[in-house]
Amino acid sequence: MAVLPIYTDGSPVLRKKALPVKQLTDDVIQLIMDMFETMRKASGIGLAANQVGVLQRVISIDVSEIEGLENIKPFALINPEVIDKKDSWTIEEGCLSVPDVRDEVERAKTIKVRFKDTGFHDREIEAGDLLARVMLHEIDHLNGILFIDYLTPEKRKMHAELLQKIHRGEIEVNYPVVTAADIPL
Ligand code: NI
Repeated sequence: MAVLPIYTDGSPVLRKKALPVKQLTDDVIQLIMDMFETMRKASGIGLAANQVGVLQRVISIDVSEIEGLENIKPFALINPEVIDKKDSWTIEEGCLSVPDVRDEVERAKTIKVRFKDTGFHDREIEAGDLLARVMLHEIDHLNGILFIDYLTPEKRKMHAELLQKIHRGEIEVNYPVVTAADIPL
């Protein structure tokens, strides 16, 4: 397993739509294992393949460190699709690709998601609260959407300086990153 560098805001790969996984190859399994390793290293609770520069519809989730969610073992979702949404709530979010920026986002409170598991079997999961939120955040990544996209222009302005720093690659985090400044034009 390998810790992969995480692409940060300003990197084009974060704005692209990831493609469905057609079959479970060794490469996909390797990707999933590396994503778990990367997520652990970065102390993240969720990661999407776009964030490690791979445009495949794969997300990994590990909420087992969160109080009350210890029983949910880390798991990966291949080709996840939200098939139902109910109610909404607003809490603060962050993202490993947008370090140090945190702000409130409104999302559905309860969702139903269809996906393939790591055995490539069709599965459905109903999730609420934080688990639902992580899934929605990660599925957004697969569609090229970041949580900061939901902020009002005023709130974005509040974060503008920090976002510019991220774009310039002036980031201090304890995990490897690829910033927009690292990418040749
Ligand atoms: Ni994120």
